[in-house]
Amino acid sequence: MACKRGALIVLEGVDKAGKTTQCKKLVHALQQSGRPAEMMRFPERTTTIGQLISAYLENKSDLEDHTVHLLFSANRWELVPLMKKKLEQGTTLVVDRYAFSGVAFTSAKPGFCLDWCMKPDVGLPKPDLVMFLQLSPAEAALRGQFGEERYETNVFQRAVQQKFEHLMKDPSVNWRAIDASQSVEDVHENITTHSLNTINAAENLPLGELWK
Ligand code: TMP
Repeated sequence: MACKRGALIVLEGVDKAGKTTQCKKLVHALQQSGRPAEMMRFPERTTTIGQLISAYLENKSDLEDHTVHLLFSANRWELVPLMKKKLEQGTTLVVDRYAFSGVAFTSAKPGFCLDWCMKPDVGLPKPDLVMFLQLSPAEAALRGQFGEERYETNVFQRAVQQKFEHLMKDPSVNWRAIDASQSVEDVHENITTHSLNTINAAENLPLGELWK
C-alpha cells in the first residue's frame, strides 16, 4: 500500500506574532508523537535566489519592487520538487511564511494590486491548513522594537496586516485565525489541535494547487 501523504501546514502572521517559535514547537510535538515532520521557511535564504533576497532584506542591495516579488515567488517554486517529495514520503511540512506573505507584503507597497501579486504563485502546492497568528499592532509593540530589516516598521506592518485580512476572506484556502496574544503554551496547544485534525484529514486527500 502506498504510504499516506504528509500535510502541508503554513503559519502566517505579522512580525512578532511568534510564527517561528510556534513552527519549531509544532514540529517537535509532532515528532515526539511519532509523526514525521519537518520545518521549512520562506524566504529560504540559503539558495542562490535566497541570497539575493536576503541581501535585499538586510538593505545591502536594492531591487526593483516587481523584481523582488518575482524572486520571492521563484524561491518558493525552486523548493516545490523537494516539498512534494517529502509530502509524498509521508512527512508533514510546517512552513514559516508562504505565498500569503508574498502577496501581503508586496501589495502593501504603492502601485500593486492583489491580483498581480497572486499570479506568480498560482499552482504552488496548496496548504492543507494556513494558521494566521493574530496580534494587534499595540500588542506587537509591547513585544519590543522591530528589527533592522526592510519592512520592519509600524506603518508598513499595519498595511501588511490589512492585506492579510483581505486574503483571509478567500474561502478556497483553509484559514484558521489563532489568537497569538495568549501564552506561548496556549497558542501551541491550539495550533497542535488544528494540525492533528488536518494531518488526519489530508492523508486521504490529494494535494491541491493554490489559487487555481
Ligand atoms: P523573516 O525571514 O524574518 O520571516 O523575514 C522575511 C521578510 O520578507 C519579512 O519581512 C516578510 C518578507 N517577505 C516578503 O516580502 N515576501 C515573501 O514572499 C516572503 C515569504 C516574505
